[in-house]
Amino acid sequence: MNKKNLFILENQGFCFGVTRAIKLCEDNLNSFKKPVYLLGDLVHNKNVSNYFENLGVKILKGNSRLEMLDQIESGTVIITAHGVGSNIYNKIKDKGLALFDCTCPFVKKASDLILEHINNNYDIIYIGKKNHPETEGVISESKRIHLIENIDDIDNLVINNDLIGLSNQTTMSIYDIEDIVNKIKEKYPHVVILKTICNATKNRQKELSDCLTNLNNKEFLCIVVGDPTSNNTLMLEKRAKSFKNGLTIKIEDKNMLDINLVKKYQNVVITSGASTPHVIVNEVIDKIKSIN
Ligand code: F3S
Repeated sequence: MNKKNLFILENQGFCFGVTRAIKLCEDNLNSFKKPVYLLGDLVHNKNVSNYFENLGVKILKGNSRLEMLDQIESGTVIITAHGVGSNIYNKIKDKGLALFDCTCPFVKKASDLILEHINNNYDIIYIGKKNHPETEGVISESKRIHLIENIDDIDNLVINNDLIGLSNQTTMSIYDIEDIVNKIKEKYPHVVILKTICNATKNRQKELSDCLTNLNNKEFLCIVVGDPTSNNTLMLEKRAKSFKNGLTIKIEDKNMLDINLVKKYQNVVITSGASTPHVIVNEVIDKIKSIN
């Protein structure tokens, strides 16, 4: 086989919100009142979680953020990049715990926009993943926020309000959302679209799509590097899989990469989720280059 064509996409590794959350924690950790707890994973990547656990931070687990807070009585609580609802801020305050907030500014901006519309008497249709922390936070704010996870859920919506807004988790797929938005517009023609997919998510999805389109039906192997709990990683995988002229695999790190599989492909595309450390992506790239 001729030398491989490696397509290493430009938007790789940590996004702005993830970099910011990690740096904030690192810079301030020593000054926190102990013990220090993370309200779930700071970002969805097990390497990052292991790193903070090794620095002495305890990562709370549970079915909901409220339930996690029931497990502790003292110290500092770190809010993760995915944000939380006001019920969580209130409970932290009521319990007398110290608070350190690492919510991504784009998540905050999106939830502020939704709350502004709720305060102006809108109902909001919200596209998200039920158990994702960002969605958990947003939908806890009002009974007038109606969660849908897919296009079929639209049939079950019953909203009697002339004011309806449509919003979504910041890491959803721009391609899936298109179809959902069109169907909602048929049912509620007066719906106002609040655009809340963040640029980091959008740019990665577009760059991947453009790359696979430009391959012009040539066979490819697409490697998506990221954690199985990372929604934007899953959305990249889903998008790549919609191109039928290739194979898409999702791996967490170089150890999961089957080099014999890579050898079979001339065109290899590499992308990664927004919570995947650059060092992990680079190790995958180096492993591929070693057989090139
Ligand atoms: Fe924030 Fe978007 Fe990253 S919402 S955490 S910049 S994927």
